[in-house]
Amino acid sequence: MSITKESELTGMKEISEVVGTTLRLMSAYVKVGMSTKELDDYGGSILKRYGAKSAPYETYDFPGYTCISVNEEAAHGIPSIHKILKEGDLINIDVSAELKGFWSDNGGSFVLGNDIHNHQPLVDASKHILHKAINAIKGGVRISEIGYIIETEAKKSGFKVIKNLAGHGVGRSLHEEPENILNYRVKTNRERFKKNTTVAIETFISTRSNNAVELNDGWTLVGDKGGYITQHEQTILITDNTPIVLTASNGMWN
Ligand code: CO
Ligand code: CO
Repeated sequence: MSITKESELTGMKEISEVVGTTLRLMSAYVKVGMSTKELDDYGGSILKRYGAKSAPYETYDFPGYTCISVNEEAAHGIPSIHKILKEGDLINIDVSAELKGFWSDNGGSFVLGNDIHNHQPLVDASKHILHKAINAIKGGVRISEIGYIIETEAKKSGFKVIKNLAGHGVGRSLHEEPENILNYRVKTNRERFKKNTTVAIETFISTRSNNAVELNDGWTLVGDKGGYITQHEQTILITDNTPIVLTASNGMWN
């Protein structure tokens, strides 16, 4: 959305602080032996305490308050009492919600406990690439340029990007213009980032796959060629300089 007055910025800061805090608290709460349903209920209770509404639950009839994707799952993993988290699992939590008509979105991947399956290099690359991409954004920068940075950095680290998942505008709804902030360069896309707009930038870094495909539960996404996929996402405010990370309360850069 385009921020035209102080009250809109305040609204975006408020909901971003809420989703960021929820993501941070959930990441600290999770432990070996916990079900993803228990973790999701905890996240749902935090959103409720702030008076915020889960975006996937309220808007998309998703069967959970947050998306929790484990190991081969790339995104939109459904919280379940049957999914018990184990040592070394690769976990992604994505929290998006609405408060007073404003929407914000953030997510992150991490390894649970000891990294016995060596997922950490993928997690570190994803986080580093998101940081680099966000720091290159300002008003007037081409969206394709950011896709180029993400793809190039992924290759440098020995990884691939998922081509059919993307960042997006956010603010008055969960997904708005620009709708496809892709993880690779589309040369024909001449669209540019605009100053004073809010967008969710997200990485989808992969060990093997180039695309995400849906499982027959109608939600869960996995890689088309298998392997592992990490995602890191921040909602930002674009300026003339380095963007303001509105969801910084998630502690991702700490
Ligand atoms: Co998003
Ligand atoms: Co998200």
